[in-house]
Amino acid sequence: MLARSARSNTLFILLTLSVVSLYFLYKHNKIPTVRTTLRDPYEHDDHSGAVGTSVALPPSNGTLGFGAIYAVSAPGSTRKGRLAQAAAVTGLELTIPDLPTWTDKDVDDFRWHNKSESLVLVGTAKAWLSHHVVLRAFLESDAQTALIIEDDVDWDIRLRTTQVPLAQQAARSLGALRTGKRPPYDPVEQPWGSDQDWDLLYLGHCGDYLNDVLWGVGVGHHHPSDLAKLDHVLYGDPTMPHRTNLHPFTASFLTSLVVPEQTRVLHHSVWPLCTFGYAITRHTAERLLKDIAPPHEDPARHITAYDAAILTACRDGQLYCYTLTPEVFHHMEGESLIAGEEEKAKERKIVRPPVDAAGLEQVKYRKETSNIGCGFASGEFYWEGDEGKLQYLQDEVVGQGKCLKEGRYP
Ligand SMILES: *[C@@H]1O[C@H](CO)[C@@H](O)[C@H](O)[C@H]1NC(C)=O
Ligand SMILES: *[C@@H]1O[C@H](CO)[C@@H](O)[C@H](O)[C@H]1NC(C)=O
Repeated sequence: MLARSARSNTLFILLTLSVVSLYFLYKHNKIPTVRTTLRDPYEHDDHSGAVGTSVALPPSNGTLGFGAIYAVSAPGSTRKGRLAQAAAVTGLELTIPDLPTWTDKDVDDFRWHNKSESLVLVGTAKAWLSHHVVLRAFLESDAQTALIIEDDVDWDIRLRTTQVPLAQQAARSLGALRTGKRPPYDPVEQPWGSDQDWDLLYLGHCGDYLNDVLWGVGVGHHHPSDLAKLDHVLYGDPTMPHRTNLHPFTASFLTSLVVPEQTRVLHHSVWPLCTFGYAITRHTAERLLKDIAPPHEDPARHITAYDAAILTACRDGQLYCYTLTPEVFHHMEGESLIAGEEEKAKERKIVRPPVDAAGLEQVKYRKETSNIGCGFASGEFYWEGDEGKLQYLQDEVVGQGKCLKEGRYP
């Protein structure tokens, strides 16, 4: 009798201890989250290709596994210097083609001859022409693929070391999923998968909410079945901000699709907004210049901007596009040069697009760009010609993957 009660006491104590320790584990987030793991069928070694543990993947090269990275930057843009500093810290090799100063005549030639019917605003026409210069520079090079970024984008210091290697692995899996068995290719030469598997990769955008944002975003509008019907892969990325620190639209969107914390989705594009960072093949560049976004307005198409032309082509199946959600490039808050142009032209008042407006309060609170964990917007990581500081940033911040900002722990 005594022995039995001692045993049940012991059991009771053990049970209590495990409940208490589980509670503490839970409270301190030590319970490992289950992540969707991917198999990479093109990995030559016997490695499982599981995504979620990033340590095993080597950093990507200075052009993020593309043939080149081009930045679209207007002449005299004040952002060029800071872009170059951020690239040096991160270890990126950027090519910034010289752009002309667009004239009224260039804009008139671009627009539909009857101006009162034109849908393309002055600044938008100039941005469109600028992207074209970059597309032509890419086609004149030997590169097979290119990433094109706008000059006001921000990214995380772990872009090259963690985020891109994980995204590349996901792209290879998605390509295999979509195209079935394809002859093996060398993932070192084609880290984003065979360039026959995709036409365009959206790595920087303002959201792909699978329909027009005006129809509603996230919980109450989107459902797991919306994602289930698209080709997609999920993968853990430890550098991703927690849900509460994501742009409110992104957070609600991922919640509505029941995507776990710190997990990205690479999926077939449906309604990708903005062209902050997009990767293309040579064939895509030719098509953008000739039939998808030619440099003359066609009023019958009702297309108001370059990014809208690409969105339409991806949505309507002219191009096969992938969207990475959340994106790894996002434009920094600040005065938009395009909007400034239009203000000058008295065409419209500066109005923040809905996605920017919804994210503004959080950007000010976090002192980070929307959906970027540890980026350049707060200013600490600019080195302004101080080589010693550059070295420190490369070694201690990027090299160690530590967000060494005042008031932030690594
Ligand atoms: C230009 O378009 C407007 C609006 O459709 C129309 O009223 C006007 O007649 C057109 N002008 C010319 C010269 O075609
Ligand atoms: C990075 O890798 C890609 C793919 O193998 C290659 O085309 C590109 O030239 C490389 N970039 C650099 C700077 O080595």
